[in-house]
Amino acid sequence: MTSPDALRKAFTEMFGAAPRIFRAPGRVNLIGGHLDYNEGWVLPIAIDRSCFVAAKVRNDSCLRVHSVQMQETFECRLDGPRPRRHHWSNYVRGVAWALREAGQPIAGGDLLISNDVPMGAGLSSSAALEVSTAFALLRLSAREMDRVQLARICQRAENEYVGMRCGIMDQLVACCGRRAHALLIDCRTLEIKPVPFDESSVAVVVANTMVKHALAASSEYNRRRTECDDAVARIRVLRSEVKTLRDVSWPEIEQLVSTWPENIRRRARHVTTEMLRVHAAAAALRKGNFVELGRLISEAHVSLDNDYEVSSVELNLMVALAKQIPGLFGARMTGAGFGGCTVNLVEVNDAAKFAGKLAKSYEEQTRIQPDVYVCRASDGVEEIT
Ligand code: GLA
Repeated sequence: MTSPDALRKAFTEMFGAAPRIFRAPGRVNLIGGHLDYNEGWVLPIAIDRSCFVAAKVRNDSCLRVHSVQMQETFECRLDGPRPRRHHWSNYVRGVAWALREAGQPIAGGDLLISNDVPMGAGLSSSAALEVSTAFALLRLSAREMDRVQLARICQRAENEYVGMRCGIMDQLVACCGRRAHALLIDCRTLEIKPVPFDESSVAVVVANTMVKHALAASSEYNRRRTECDDAVARIRVLRSEVKTLRDVSWPEIEQLVSTWPENIRRRARHVTTEMLRVHAAAAALRKGNFVELGRLISEAHVSLDNDYEVSSVELNLMVALAKQIPGLFGARMTGAGFGGCTVNLVEVNDAAKFAGKLAKSYEEQTRIQPDVYVCRASDGVEEIT
């Protein structure tokens, strides 16, 4: 885990001056899988694992960036050409590009990055990197920006510079997370309603399968988006007012879809039924009805597995094993899928034991040692003073 003091010291040794320190969190999504790019609702929490950026302004337009995890340094000019290959530095260059595109006259900087959000685990390490970097670059140039706009800029960097067609959820949570709250986000209007998350009754346990089917993840993610667009195009033949799957309910289209290809039918069923689950889940969370919230979370997993087809053998195993352990309210995969983490809603007094048992039984079955831990809901991006 990154200690801000150790990071400050390392920066001073590397760049010869004291830095300012910024952090942005990763996230887990309790429910609302693959709804953000369908303009639906999602219910994530920002977690207490963050990407830290130690930074100091430069008086030229260069970026000099070192990553602790990658053990690599790169340098570029803010107005330099776009790299042709995929590289971790593209997230950093991408936000610098997108900030400038948005008319923010940012200066160059020296940056030391240490990301505690595990990469490729479905906990949004990329959004944490983008948002912490963008926020640091803005603050170094004494610029302020609305947090929702900052999220949009970071999403644009990922869509257009990195080339991943992600939705807005991850960047919004990294910007707007709230301690001890989940966020009910309307991904059409980007309105955010914080919902109190009672950490004295219930805990979120994240379980990393340690398996990521990375190739499937990016190509299949983009394919799901195309399949949803396909469903919308079919509906629009009859109902031109429909813009996204947000605008229809399953009973309204159930008749219509009977002639559609099986995969498109299933995708539409997941998206339209998941929308209802998110609203029911937010209501259950508000009432402190964790049995109901857990039931909806588990139902969402089945829908993501059967209808959206983004789960994996390891994720299904992790969910099945969790269901055998006392204290569980509900479990599902989180993030884009094809590996990574599950999110488990657990009775708070059972949480530590639950985590230990889940890790043990997953390791017995797979011989893979998973990372299983209790998360706290935390704040969005900030400067650490
Ligand atoms: C990834 C994307 C998000 C969202 C989720 C699935 O994390 O970055 O925009 O689509 O997958 O819910």
